[in-house]
Amino acid sequence: MIHLQGVSKHYGSLVALDNLSLHIGPGELFGFIGPNGAGKSTTMKILACLLRPDTGRASVGGLDVLHHGHEIRKLVGYMPDFLGVYDDLTVDEYLQFFAAAFKIPAAKRRSIVEGVLELTDLREKRHAMVDSLSRGMQQRLGVARVLIHDPKVLLLDEPASGLDPRARIEMRELLTELTRMGKTIMVSSHILSELAEMCSSIGIIERGKLLYAGSIHDAYARAGAGQRISVTLEPGPDGLGASPERAAEFLSRCPAVARVGVEGPTLSVELAPDQTSHQPVIETLIGCGARVVAFVPRQVKLEDAFLRLTKGALN
Ligand SMILES: Nc1ncnc2c1ncn2[C@@H]1O[C@H](COP(=O)(O)OP(=O)(O)OP(=O)(O)O)[C@@H](O)[C@H]1O
Ligand SMILES: [Mg+2]
Repeated sequence: MIHLQGVSKHYGSLVALDNLSLHIGPGELFGFIGPNGAGKSTTMKILACLLRPDTGRASVGGLDVLHHGHEIRKLVGYMPDFLGVYDDLTVDEYLQFFAAAFKIPAAKRRSIVEGVLELTDLREKRHAMVDSLSRGMQQRLGVARVLIHDPKVLLLDEPASGLDPRARIEMRELLTELTRMGKTIMVSSHILSELAEMCSSIGIIERGKLLYAGSIHDAYARAGAGQRISVTLEPGPDGLGASPERAAEFLSRCPAVARVGVEGPTLSVELAPDQTSHQPVIETLIGCGARVVAFVPRQVKLEDAFLRLTKGALN
């Protein structure tokens, strides 16, 4: 649905995008992740036909951005990183305005605006002034606006930035719902964990170069960062049950385990990078007679995986 092939973009002497290639299939929820200045917004503006690439090809739905701007604008809903300032407009007027701008016939506007208000959970705020909305509501209004013309593809530039944890969860739920409705979504963030759980795939960009594209799971594996489990054992009042050292010895022979550390009664177990099931660890513990009082899986911080991945690519 979205293709970039060898796209470069310069601002004067600054290279904002450097030979970027990226492919996003229909129905994907693609997380576009990179630090400030990486080139995320530039990429999205090219796809929204607001900027022209210097070299390379970019297309949406098979339509080239250089030749089919008009058609692409119908296909794409682009939410920029700033909503802009709209004084003296209510939520309802704001959406009606964009419905008119998209040339939706007046008779249909009411029901379309109702639909997007419902979807973005803003019905109760329809008469509120846009600039009185909280940040989370403004971001949802931004999404509501790009849904007005029912585009197949959504380009959402940092929709979760500046949101509190609850508003972030609501935004995630909204994006997941939109994916269920069949939209293809490209969503950017500079915080990996903001997107990790919901995306079907991610791309990591830094200084205009794509460092990684693929599934989150593969990103972990490539970064060599397996999941960790903290296991606490109890010898039992009778002194029976495997000692932590003995359990660690058994676990270290288990192929699903990359490393084991022992600290007092607690084992720190790192799974092999491609290992997602805890089952082999549980079976090994039972097999050696360990009495487990706590079994706490700890997701490796995605940020750590990200750092390792970017370091690996740059070295
Ligand atoms: N209009 C412009 N004129 C000159 N330089 C620009 C312009 N827009 C962006 N840049 C530069 O291009 C690079 C990429 O910017 P871009 O906005 O695409 O990054 P980003 O990944 O969206 O960053 P952020 O996370 O801060 O939004 C940056 O170095 C930025 O300073
Ligand atoms: Mg940006």
